[in-house]
Amino acid sequence: MSTLSVDHLLGIKYLTKEDINLIFETADHFKEVINRSIKKVPTLRDITIANIFFENSTRTKLSFELAEKRLSADVINFSASQSSVKKGETLIDTVNNILSMKVDMVVMRHPNPGAGIFLSKHVDASIVNAGDGAHEHPTQALLDSYSIRERLGNVGGKNVVIVGDILHSRVALSNIFALQLQGANVKVCGPKTLLPKYIESLGVGVETNLKSALQWCDVANMLRVQNERLDVSYFPTTREYTQQYGLNKKLLQELDREIVVMHPGPINRGVEITSDVADSGQSIILEQVENGVAIRMAVIYLLASKIK
Ligand code: CP
Repeated sequence: MSTLSVDHLLGIKYLTKEDINLIFETADHFKEVINRSIKKVPTLRDITIANIFFENSTRTKLSFELAEKRLSADVINFSASQSSVKKGETLIDTVNNILSMKVDMVVMRHPNPGAGIFLSKHVDASIVNAGDGAHEHPTQALLDSYSIRERLGNVGGKNVVIVGDILHSRVALSNIFALQLQGANVKVCGPKTLLPKYIESLGVGVETNLKSALQWCDVANMLRVQNERLDVSYFPTTREYTQQYGLNKKLLQELDREIVVMHPGPINRGVEITSDVADSGQSIILEQVENGVAIRMAVIYLLASKIK
């Protein structure tokens, strides 16, 4: 049986192209499973997983929990805001206390970049990064590429533009790594103030004009402005941001071909994307969410097979 080259999923940066292919092949199988009338397999009956979230989440948290339950794992959920972290307990103490309850795997979202890497060096469990600050969000990038593959046949050779707040986005960095590993051409597009200075060193194209970026691409991945990570204002007003970087129906109609529109969510409707685009046939936003469950089942299954 093929296995992953890693014992933890800390970032796309640590994966190989073969790892991504294996995750996608495994997700194909689980996608078929979750479309059956009985959407569950008994595969991980002997595995216990803790989902520990130090930051808010809707999609990722529910998707991991559902993926774990579809695999018949035992699941415990931990929310930092209702925990003893509020009384000063450290991350390592918190996780070691959870692990002493015989937990095999930890899925963690944390506001600090590198929190998952740090944890993997200090505790005895398989760690899955569910988003660490502005660093990486590996399962989001995997489900994004999987959804492109599903809609367009493959990822290699496709032109993908990631639009918006690249500076504060973990989704952007993980997508850049994942898309490049699979042979896609990647550009980022946004106001200069929201593009990191190092971005060109990652081998991506840079475009500050949304119309030009849309003319070039097969896929536009629209990102939210991460207001919770903005200490100062990076553009004059939200209205001006939307005028320059918001995707609307008129912009799509001006193109000479139909592009695919993506968004990792949560959407700020009317800011980075209008509702008529988000809810159109060109948008694969809900397919991304659906595929997230199969991708997370695949990741958990493949990592669990390494700790058994
Ligand atoms: N895409 C994503 O990570 O969404 P949540 O923050 O709701 O999990």
